[in-house]
Amino acid sequence: MILRKKNVLFHRQSFQIAAIFGCVAALLQPLSGDFSAKDVAKRQPAKLAAMESHFKTEKRASLIVGGIPDPENQKVDYAVKIPGLLSFMAHGDVDAEVKGLDQIPLQDQPPIGITHYAFQIMVGLGMVMMLIALLFGTALFIKKDWLKRNWLLKLFAWATPIGFIAVEAGWTVTEVGRQPWIIHGVMRTADAVTPMPGIAYSFYLFTGVYVSLALVTLFMLYRQIKMVDTLYDLPTGIKEAH
Ligand code: HEM
Repeated sequence: MILRKKNVLFHRQSFQIAAIFGCVAALLQPLSGDFSAKDVAKRQPAKLAAMESHFKTEKRASLIVGGIPDPENQKVDYAVKIPGLLSFMAHGDVDAEVKGLDQIPLQDQPPIGITHYAFQIMVGLGMVMMLIALLFGTALFIKKDWLKRNWLLKLFAWATPIGFIAVEAGWTVTEVGRQPWIIHGVMRTADAVTPMPGIAYSFYLFTGVYVSLALVTLFMLYRQIKMVDTLYDLPTGIKEAH
């Protein structure tokens, strides 16, 4: 709306509030991520090993950034490796030993590719959001004229889906990474599947309900935005002044 020069004062204030909250959260996110990683290392080492495609148990384990896992040959192609960082992230000590997939029986390993890519997407997008947050912080405290620049507003508009994609990727890491267990080490997902017949119908029903709710939400949001726009629309001269 600011870019479209509609209701600029109102939208500038709303944007600023949302951006401050979002940017503080983006800067704190790696702390929560680090906390989760330490917990996963302790309680679900197979998930951590799959997230990082860490095939061999070793001390001073490298953090693997990106790359294409090749489980057959137990390696990751085209990855950037940072020595000791996985040990540090998992156990707070660069020399600590990190359990690899070689210590997990094949039938107890999660799908490596999906878990690895989802983790890389989540962390990668987290880093992008941190960079945007730093830019916004610079604009807020040092280069105040940036706040009115189109490139900063366009960057935020383009970045809108990033947080959602990172959330879905994070959830994929959690759920795919804990396979084949539904209760870790106690019950397999395959054993938890209900034997009840006709379960597909309730699945279709719930899907229908949620799709309808999503459509209603989209419609309401669209109407709300349009309403705010006409309610507070100021004469062009005043808008320009803002
Ligand atoms: C920046 C570095 C990040 C690190 C190191 C990190 C680390 C982790 C780890 C280790 C898990 C697995 C937790 C588990 O399975 O118990 C996880 C899950 C998750 N992450 Fe991240 N994360 C990062 C960024 C992000 C970002 C930017 C978002 C979203 C905006 C995000 C959203 C999630 C979500 C939704 C889950 C699933 C939580 C659940 O289902 O309980 N993460 N993250």
